[in-house]
Amino acid sequence: MKYTLVTGGTGFIGSHTVIQLLAQERAVIILDNLSNSSRAVLPRISSLSKKEPLFVEGDIRDKALLESLFEQYEIESVVHFAGLKAVGESTEKPLMYYENNVWGTINLCQVMARFGCKSIVFSSSATVYGDPASVPIKEDFPTSTTNPYGASKLMVENILQDLQASDPKWKVILLRYFNPIGAHKSGQIGEDPADIPNNLLPYVTQVAVGKLAQLSVFGDDYPTHDGTGVRDYIHVEDLAAAHVCAVDKLTEFSGTKIFNLGTGTGYSVLDIVKTFEQVTGEKVPYSITPRRPGDIAECFADASLARTELGWHATRGLEEMLEDAWRWQSQNPNGYADSE
Ligand code: NAD
Ligand code: UD1
Repeated sequence: MKYTLVTGGTGFIGSHTVIQLLAQERAVIILDNLSNSSRAVLPRISSLSKKEPLFVEGDIRDKALLESLFEQYEIESVVHFAGLKAVGESTEKPLMYYENNVWGTINLCQVMARFGCKSIVFSSSATVYGDPASVPIKEDFPTSTTNPYGASKLMVENILQDLQASDPKWKVILLRYFNPIGAHKSGQIGEDPADIPNNLLPYVTQVAVGKLAQLSVFGDDYPTHDGTGVRDYIHVEDLAAAHVCAVDKLTEFSGTKIFNLGTGTGYSVLDIVKTFEQVTGEKVPYSITPRRPGDIAECFADASLARTELGWHATRGLEEMLEDAWRWQSQNPNGYADSE
């Protein structure tokens, strides 16, 4: 049997992607060190997909473990989600981010190369565009970063491109996500931040469920339609579907491909608050506070390349994203902790 190895497969985006890969009859091995996810997601993945992915608790920095996995199983492709992702933490602990995200990926690729598995889909981010000169953002826009998290993503992109250039057998797909939100329709899997959320949507849902008092809206003096920051929110199920297309694409080409994954539409912080209140009937108290350092005014994708080359486009709108995020949060006020 040929396997797809999903690093970080118990995390937010990974867990949704694993379910969709299993639905396409792919055999999946999840490798995750559970540093930012819970074992409790595994029975939910199995019950939703009616299939059993193999799960290995372990670290991408553990070469002996990776070697034993590649020895034991015929792994034909890797979807590489594993990484740390908190921007603020990355500025406090840059070495931890570079070790985990950059060195971890080098380690993974060394073992992949040794075993002749040279097909990888990598989770990158719109953060690699820095503060873009204009929107919508296309894949050929200049890249730059403002924090160690973003720098680690860009370094890995460069390393994978260099690796591919050195050996044409490598097939590399770099997926630049915009702002993933939402949750599985069942309400059984979703985003479960370990601490106080940094990102907007989990903060909004935790205010609505009563765990946090009120939302701080970081600045209302941006040059946007209502002064608050504009982002391209994409449903995690649409994002997961793009990974299935990317894994399929790996069999068709050789080289490096880069795709933006977004809807192409930007919404402001206040658009999010108002739409959330409308679709859920819950109140989200907020106050306007100063801008968050490092934030940009507007960020949304031109995702037309993914449509033409991957045969993928986002199909779910903002209301559905917010309804699904709320179903998950309201059914699991403490995330996976309730079932651990
Ligand atoms: P997540 O934290 O929920 O998932 C990442 C998973 O990787 C976690 O389960 C964690 O335990 C695991 N992990 C971390 N380091 C590991 C290591 N060394 N070895 C093994 N497992 C390890 O995050 P997510 O939101 O699902 O993001 C997945 C990927 O997408 C990350 O690489 C992230 O940087 C990237 N990304 C996320 C967003 C976003 O907004 N969620 C946006 C752009 C890019
Ligand atoms: C953040 C990261 C980015 C990462 C992305 C996805 C920063 C500076 N950037 O981007 O590197 O790729 O997440 O993980 O952290 N907002 C509030 N109040 C809040 C939280 C957010 O008003 O409590 C606003 C922000 O100012 C922004 C919007 O909501 O305008 C979205 O914020 P967020 O969800 O953190 O995503 P990004 O800023 O796009």
